Amino acid sequence: MRNSILFVLLLMVMLACSKPTAEKGTNAYYIQKADSVLALMTLEEKIGQLNLPAAGDITTGQASNSNIAEKIREGKVGGLFNLKSAEKIRDVQRIAVEESRLKIPLIFGMDVIHGYETIFPIPLGIASSWDMELIQKSARIAAIEASADGISWTFSPMTDVSRDPRWGRVSEGNGEDPFLGAAIAKAMITGYQGDDLSLDNTIMACVKHFALYGAPEAGRDYHTVDMSRQRMFNEYFLPYKAAVEAGVGTVMTSFNDIDGIPASANQWLMTEVLRNQWGFDGFVVTDYTAINEMIDHGLGDLQQVSALALKAGVDMDMVGEGFLTTLEKSLEEGKITQKQIDDAARRILVAKFKLGLFEDPYRYANVEKSKQVVFSQEHRNIAREIAAQSFVLLKNDGNVLPLQKKGTIALVGPMADNRENMTGTWSVAANFEKSVSLKDGLEKALGEKARIIHARGANVVEDPELESRVSIFGKPTYRDERPEAVMIQEAVAAARNADVIIAAMGEAAEMSGEASSRTDIELPANQRRLLQALKATGKPIVLVLFTGRPLAIKWEAENIPSILNVWFAGSEAGDAISDVLFGDVNPSGKLPATFPQNVGQVPIYYNQKNTGRPLPEGEWFQKFRSNYLDVSNDPLYPFGFGLSYTEFNYSNLQISSNSLKGDQSLIISIEISNDGKYDGAEVVQLYIRDLVASITRPVKELKAFEKLFLKSGEKKKVEFELKQKDLMFYDQDAKFVWEPGEFEIMVGGNSRDLIKTKIDWN
Ligand code: BGC
Repeated sequence: MRNSILFVLLLMVMLACSKPTAEKGTNAYYIQKADSVLALMTLEEKIGQLNLPAAGDITTGQASNSNIAEKIREGKVGGLFNLKSAEKIRDVQRIAVEESRLKIPLIFGMDVIHGYETIFPIPLGIASSWDMELIQKSARIAAIEASADGISWTFSPMTDVSRDPRWGRVSEGNGEDPFLGAAIAKAMITGYQGDDLSLDNTIMACVKHFALYGAPEAGRDYHTVDMSRQRMFNEYFLPYKAAVEAGVGTVMTSFNDIDGIPASANQWLMTEVLRNQWGFDGFVVTDYTAINEMIDHGLGDLQQVSALALKAGVDMDMVGEGFLTTLEKSLEEGKITQKQIDDAARRILVAKFKLGLFEDPYRYANVEKSKQVVFSQEHRNIAREIAAQSFVLLKNDGNVLPLQKKGTIALVGPMADNRENMTGTWSVAANFEKSVSLKDGLEKALGEKARIIHARGANVVEDPELESRVSIFGKPTYRDERPEAVMIQEAVAAARNADVIIAAMGEAAEMSGEASSRTDIELPANQRRLLQALKATGKPIVLVLFTGRPLAIKWEAENIPSILNVWFAGSEAGDAISDVLFGDVNPSGKLPATFPQNVGQVPIYYNQKNTGRPLPEGEWFQKFRSNYLDVSNDPLYPFGFGLSYTEFNYSNLQISSNSLKGDQSLIISIEISNDGKYDGAEVVQLYIRDLVASITRPVKELKAFEKLFLKSGEKKKVEFELKQKDLMFYDQDAKFVWEPGEFEIMVGGNSRDLIKTKIDWN
């Protein structure tokens, strides 16, 4: 009965919409469909489409009583976000399509950032896999789970390039490199959107935060961003642009200002660059209350900032209701135009048509399917595999790793026995307590083969107030109130009785993420004191490092023989870590961001400029050179770095020509041999340097990479092709130009250790 009523109602809307003449599936077709709905709408209803409230506390069965419900009935809501479960979403959608005048379906969004319930490594972690197929697969699985539960729109990928590990949100991005970031953006969007958005298992992606959100001054979240145009275009914009080229459906504005104008009011950014230069044809949503925040930025009252946002090219207002409450007045006063409102509403309707929501508003909420696919064993197995690929082996002196499944293991540290923290930041749909802790994983892997003695040894940080700030969002850190000395004593006793120590240390999940900037990025001092005490036992130590950012772990790098960086690996973390610790999987992750020696070096990144006073190679200090008195310019671990249990050697770099012309291509080949005892994967990286140009150019730029698998004793040749456009750049006027000349070509397994040659390209 209900279905037939619904069908009639929908039919009414559809019939009212005149038949499109454009070819089905084209953008023009969807625009015609949207226009036919637009023609039926009142001004209020159009503005309503631009409104995106957060779901708040709507619970199943109560949707009709929530205060959002009334607004939905009145046609004042375009979509909702972060409402979880197929039932709740069906409930709310029913209000829109049965009780509002025009029955326009809502779009349901969510922060599905690195998985839905099956959680994959945090984005910085998954970037370390350098495996685009796996990354795409993770987004595909996230889309399958989220769509079954009613979500048709995700606020991902975040592609903000960042060179500042103080900024907590480095965890949510893909690191410091625009080329790697662009490849990941494309893989994620393809994974989410597939090639047909109307399918019930594909969802619309949203690239964020446009733009430059990863470059706040002093690494403090939401802080000012001010940079030259050539730096924006050459070093920061590429991943957003790649997202547009990959057909991303939506773009989210960033909170920060750029050139003195907050992104949400920045017409140059939202219209000139995004739409006119890059050809973006989807809709732009603000970040959470970003329009209202422009009052604090000092741009005027709510009416003023809302009008500025609409005029800049923003279509949807997340949470703040500035559009909902002021646009009508601004229109009356001539501060905005009817066309601007129509354009914004049209873009949102087009997205809803593309998603197939007008055809079936419940397409994405399938209670039965959700039970089968969400957090399925099949998805969890893939998450475990992907997690293991994200770990970066930073050090392995004396081959402490891999461990053998025998003897006694002392398991210590605040992250050893914690399920809730394994998923890392931004995992809103996850059931944290279902994650596999390291202790769970080790126990499963070892069974009766070895004994584990567990002792916590240290809290996450010494200061209880700081700890309470990061023991949030359902991710407790289980602070131990015993005195530090007692905890250390217990851990040391465990270590004395063991053959090896596994120290699960680092940050808690919420020490990175939004509004989690830090000025001290070393291992917390109390954890270091525990490590010092453990070191004194003389037992071999494996530091399993949990972190959402590059850390300054100089002491650890100098004193602990083996360090495996595991980021926050997701719901299957404990199993995946065990797989790598015991050698069932050989680590192959490579750092997507530089690890500094200390925080004073920040920002430190591989693709820096040379300066006029570079330090000669091999030196670490010279007076009147660009360096520090107290520390060398070297990073602790460079971009692209990561060890393996086996040993890879590079030889025989060859180029197809050392003198090229115009649009010829350069073929570069190199041989890689696995000279160690284990099979393993290696990420081969190609960098270039433009030696003379009209503007200063970086000393290295990643231009290609390939991950290949080599059996022990095997040798393979890798070939890369460089085209003229790969050597082009944005000049002083932000024009994309080709400048002939001499280029350096460099290939290797990280950004520091490279085999080099030179070419002329005229
Ligand atoms: C974050 C966004 C997120 C949004 C919606 C904001 O605070 O900056 O990344 O998508 O909230 O939850």
